[in-house]
Amino acid sequence: MSAPLRVAIAGCGLIGGKRAEALAADDVVVGTYDVVREAAERLGPAVDSYEALLALEPDVVVIATSHDQLSALGVQALEAGAHVLVEKPAGVSVAQVEALAAAAERTGKLVKVGFNHRFHPGLARVAEEVHSGRWGEVLHVRGRYGHGGRVGYDREWRAEPARSGGGELIDQGMHLIDLTHWILGPLPLHSALLRTQFWDTSVDDNAALLLGEANSRTAPWATLHVSWTEWKNLFSLEVYCRTAKFHVEGLVRSYGPQKLRIFAMKPELGPPDVEEIDYSPEDPSWQAEWANFSAAIAAGDESLIIGGLADARYAWQTVEAAYAAGGYDDMRAEVGG
Ligand SMILES: NC(=O)c1ccc[n+]([C@@H]2O[C@H](COP(=O)([O-])OP(=O)(O)OC[C@H]3O[C@@H](n4cnc5c(N)ncnc54)[C@H](O)[C@@H]3O)[C@@H](O)[C@H]2O)c1
Repeated sequence: MSAPLRVAIAGCGLIGGKRAEALAADDVVVGTYDVVREAAERLGPAVDSYEALLALEPDVVVIATSHDQLSALGVQALEAGAHVLVEKPAGVSVAQVEALAAAAERTGKLVKVGFNHRFHPGLARVAEEVHSGRWGEVLHVRGRYGHGGRVGYDREWRAEPARSGGGELIDQGMHLIDLTHWILGPLPLHSALLRTQFWDTSVDDNAALLLGEANSRTAPWATLHVSWTEWKNLFSLEVYCRTAKFHVEGLVRSYGPQKLRIFAMKPELGPPDVEEIDYSPEDPSWQAEWANFSAAIAAGDESLIIGGLADARYAWQTVEAAYAAGGYDDMRAEVGG
């Protein structure tokens, strides 16, 4: 059992709310801060400045703001002596993730990055099966993730490069990049095709990445497609090992319930054996991720963290390379350091 934690929340929108709900029963929200005061009041005792929030001496600061604020607020919290749960993408660049890592190193505090998708049960099961080695090596991964936005999506902060760092490649792409990295390790970017087809914005609304060594005939590879023009919300991750294929569909709610199918090849090939697992329509990922971070804090052991700054750094390297390869340098020029 982890000891109860005193938690402060900065950025009290949709995800700040989910984080507040996912705390353990005996954790306490000691303070909340949002530039929109009413948003902070919804989640707990609101204070008027970030400095006032840190002055409460929380054990952990949860940061769930727009992307441009994540890294700087995280560094400040670490320097004030708190552990930090920072939402993905943990900044707007590799450099901002590195600033967080340097502050964590300096202060000896822990940082968890909000990669909650790793805690969806079907995805966690795939990682466990693949890492067991019983199905042979991973050959390739095919990931698809998308939503249809909402009226005015192109006027929200996510469509403003200076506040978001980029578009759908960061919004949902970061999760697919992270899951692929988790399941089969780091792959170099082979190529990227980005588009801004539907929404009135300079950021990408679709991104297709090919990952893998260009000059190999046998190394693992992945194709990832993320989309803000997915008119029926979709999540699909297929992982192909030498002797089995795993297919996860759905992420609960508008993405449909999560379902895992395991197709196990027979030695004589032919139609595979199929195991189908249907998960609960509830989303357990937020609570499971919090439990993981709480356990790492209780043990004082960074290595227990599932989804941390090294993972965010890899994801950002991939995203930066994709924007450069995809011809979005002008959009990225609008992003601050
Ligand atoms: N893990 C996931 O599945 C997932 C899903 C959606 C969003 N996110 C991430 O969560 C973060 C927040 O996204 P959201 O959907 O909750 O956005 P949101 O717009 O609903 O909420 C962001 C909140 O931050 C506040 N804010 C902005 N600047 C601030 C500052 N300097 N100090 C304090 N508050 C500030 C805004 O007023 C707003 O209330 C982003 O990093 C996003 O990528 C993660």
